[in-house]
Amino acid sequence: MQTVQSEVYQKIEEAKLLPLYTATNLDYLDRLEEILLTSQLPIVEVTFRSELAETAIKKLAKSGKLMVGAGTVRTLTQAKAAIKNGAKFIVSPAVIPEVIEYSLAQGIPVFPGTATPSEIQQAVDYGIHIVKFFPADIYGGLKAIKALSGPFYDVKFLPTGGIDEINVLDYLNHPQVIAVGGSFILSETSLKQDDGVTASQHLNELIETIKGKSFMISG
Ligand code: 3PG
Repeated sequence: MQTVQSEVYQKIEEAKLLPLYTATNLDYLDRLEEILLTSQLPIVEVTFRSELAETAIKKLAKSGKLMVGAGTVRTLTQAKAAIKNGAKFIVSPAVIPEVIEYSLAQGIPVFPGTATPSEIQQAVDYGIHIVKFFPADIYGGLKAIKALSGPFYDVKFLPTGGIDEINVLDYLNHPQVIAVGGSFILSETSLKQDDGVTASQHLNELIETIKGKSFMISG
């Protein structure tokens, strides 16, 4: 039987794009699901940057259409709330021992935020081999990933922060980049305009851009 961990890794690797979503109004969650499903990108990271994070995770997890993870998880309380409400993975902006230890103990994969060799090594010491690289653009972008990939040949990176339509392919072309994350993929702000029609087109164009490329597992 597939573990939650391998299921999450596989989904993220297949998706290549991890939408980072902050909910300030639950009314948009249905549309979020609809657009992601239509675009065959059934995954989302809901950030703890709003008071609605917990409720949004619960609602999306209950509906079961998307694989839902929690982002911006900075405290043990948030990690507990996220996992209790159905989050299948945890993303943090930093290496936070209590968040990592709790998530791993629950069998939930965790992607700690790293930017330096010491932080990556800290994650590896926990047995973690996929780390968030954040904020990617500030900490050297692809150039830094190339340099870090030498000593950390057994680590995969999930860069976020400053990824956009222009540089997304450069990042994804690197063999140690498992996927990229960011708010540029689909945001609540974009759903608020024209019932998300433009947001949906934008997402489809983005997917079209990466489709058929050698890093894609299928297609
Ligand atoms: C994160 O928390 O991963 C970043 O804030 C995402 O950055 P972005 O909004 O530039 O995509």
